[in-house]
Amino acid sequence: MATAGGSSVRVGPVPFNDVEHDGDMVTTVPERPSEEHVALVSALPCCTIAGMSNMKLCCYQGFWLPEGLVPPAAALQRRFEPRPSDVIVASLPKCGTTWLVALAFATLARRAHPPGAGDHPLRRLNPHQCLPFLEGLFISGLEGKLDALPSPRLMNTHMPLAMIPGAVPADGAGGGCRVVYICREPKDMVVSLWHYFRRVYPDLEFSEVFDIACDGTMPWGPFWDHILGYWRASVARPENVLFLRYEELLRDPAENVRRLARFVGLPFSAAEEEDGVVRGIVELCSLDSLRGMEVNKAGYVDTRIKFPREALFRKGVAGDWKSHMTPEMACRMDDIVADKLRGTGLAFP
Ligand code: A3P
Repeated sequence: MATAGGSSVRVGPVPFNDVEHDGDMVTTVPERPSEEHVALVSALPCCTIAGMSNMKLCCYQGFWLPEGLVPPAAALQRRFEPRPSDVIVASLPKCGTTWLVALAFATLARRAHPPGAGDHPLRRLNPHQCLPFLEGLFISGLEGKLDALPSPRLMNTHMPLAMIPGAVPADGAGGGCRVVYICREPKDMVVSLWHYFRRVYPDLEFSEVFDIACDGTMPWGPFWDHILGYWRASVARPENVLFLRYEELLRDPAENVRRLARFVGLPFSAAEEEDGVVRGIVELCSLDSLRGMEVNKAGYVDTRIKFPREALFRKGVAGDWKSHMTPEMACRMDDIVADKLRGTGLAFP
């Protein structure tokens, strides 16, 4: 555990955006020669998504990653060293990542930042500014900033589990860190993805996003392999992987926050329960609360492709696929999911 001023107190997680990253805190990572990047990517099968002309995906180790994330994925596998106290929030896009990121930050940082505090970091920062996006750090040479973070570190990723070395050790081995995965009913995930993409590519047809989800070539797809990697690990190593569902979170956010807190070794005390800390966290991170914050009404999620932050907060319901898919489409996707998940113990009822 990291220390503050020599005493053994918990000092992390700290809002990532607030961490200085100049001077001694950063170990400068040498730029990898771009020819090496080009060689790595040019050896892979690649495609562009129709209707999203500048979105090139490359199939790296069985997953369709945005081209720019292939070199960082390789670097991550070579250089990321998880600490036992690390907590990694993992997901496919549009499965409730932002919500879980906010809940995880509010839960782990609650002693330094009580949820009701007027100066809570989530009232001035977008949830994604509170956590480092793991693969993003390996793009921008900010790995040193990751190394400098106090424990416990809280991070976020869309990478498949197989690409995060050491997070979940092989059967029988000890160690690893804690991973909290959130999945979502795939039809709703696809609908949410389309709405999000349309904010930058207004002419994108729903059928185009639906097709890439079904044939496995959506970003970070095939979605079934992504989900199954984490699902199987959660069954084999429940002490390392907590598998959550967006729909369960909608049904009972408080109980899932308690599960999360127990999983990371920070269960709520009776006094905290009595003081309404769980309720405070749920309220702070609710869709209406986050959507209403000024910081989430302006700006962009990412500086490369300009998705507005407010697009992260849309409807937040289960079953929205019914207003976008024909019965045939729904049937096709249900069949794919049933086929891919058969015998795994996982289902989307
Ligand atoms: P919809 O587009 O279906 O509304 P991600 O964060 O992985 O990009 O997921 C985005 C989805 O989560 C969106 O779904 C969004 O509305 C929903 N969402 C974001 N914040 C939420 C919150 N606090 N509570 C519930 N849902 C939330």
